[in-house]
Amino acid sequence: MISFREVSKRFGTRTVLDRVTFDVPRGAISFVIGASGAGKSVLIKHVTGFVRPDAGEIWLDDLEVSRLGERELASVRKRCALVFQHATLFDSQSCLENVALPLEKHGRGRTGAEIRARARALLARVHMEPFADRYPSELGEGMKKRVAIARALALDPEYVLFDEPTTGLDPVNARRVDRLIQTLSREGGVTSLVVSHDLTSIFGIADRIVMLYKGRVRLIGTPDDFRQSDDPVVRQFVRGEAEGPMDA
Ligand SMILES: Nc1ncnc2c1ncn2[C@@H]1O[C@H](COP(=O)(O)OP(=O)(O)O)[C@@H](O)[C@H]1O
Ligand SMILES: [Mg+2]
Repeated sequence: MISFREVSKRFGTRTVLDRVTFDVPRGAISFVIGASGAGKSVLIKHVTGFVRPDAGEIWLDDLEVSRLGERELASVRKRCALVFQHATLFDSQSCLENVALPLEKHGRGRTGAEIRARARALLARVHMEPFADRYPSELGEGMKKRVAIARALALDPEYVLFDEPTTGLDPVNARRVDRLIQTLSREGGVTSLVVSHDLTSIFGIADRIVMLYKGRVRLIGTPDDFRQSDDPVVRQFVRGEAEGPMDA
């Protein structure tokens, strides 16, 4: 389980997170939602230590991540893979080579052939095996996103943190990514934490939702809890007015 306990973070005079507390239980698909600028990306970067809290604690099972140094964080980053909003594949390398990188870096696989076989299997998990020898520039955004997900899976993470995985994708590709997250979670033993403001995705695949508003947790619950909430801020979001007056 990942636990955020009273996590606060400021940049300059701006308080982005204000005593944020919630758990990410294993096996479920948890979403973090909120307006643009609400602190969603900042929040998930705390899990891997890319951002450090000003106050509060982040726990990964019985490990207090917020106390760890860079060297110990390396093992946290193997257990919790982050898929950044803008998939950053290396353009000069094929899909297979991109996915093979973390395997090579961490010595997973003894021979080149073994590493390539593993990378192919990872691409197959995201239905990109037929494109193994293509280069990122030859692929659409949805395909690049799936390759980035395959790369994130390379070291068998327990958790995958997705930052806006469907933003910028057309609806067909967005739903494909949703189904992939579902499959990883139901059959792959991966716990997902997804940052999103894509309502179709949120109400389609979330088991639980944490809503951030003005730096604080506004509501934690199931999609039904959100549909039935009479909190005006929640209602506005659910009705699809993700931007506007509720902006943080
Ligand atoms: N490294 C940083 N330095 C200063 N301000 C930052 C930094 N990272 C994020 N912020 C600010 O924190 C706020 C929340 O950012 P972010 O978490 O990216 O929002 P979102 O919910 O859209 O993902 C924004 O106002 C952003 O400008
Ligand atoms: Mg963001």
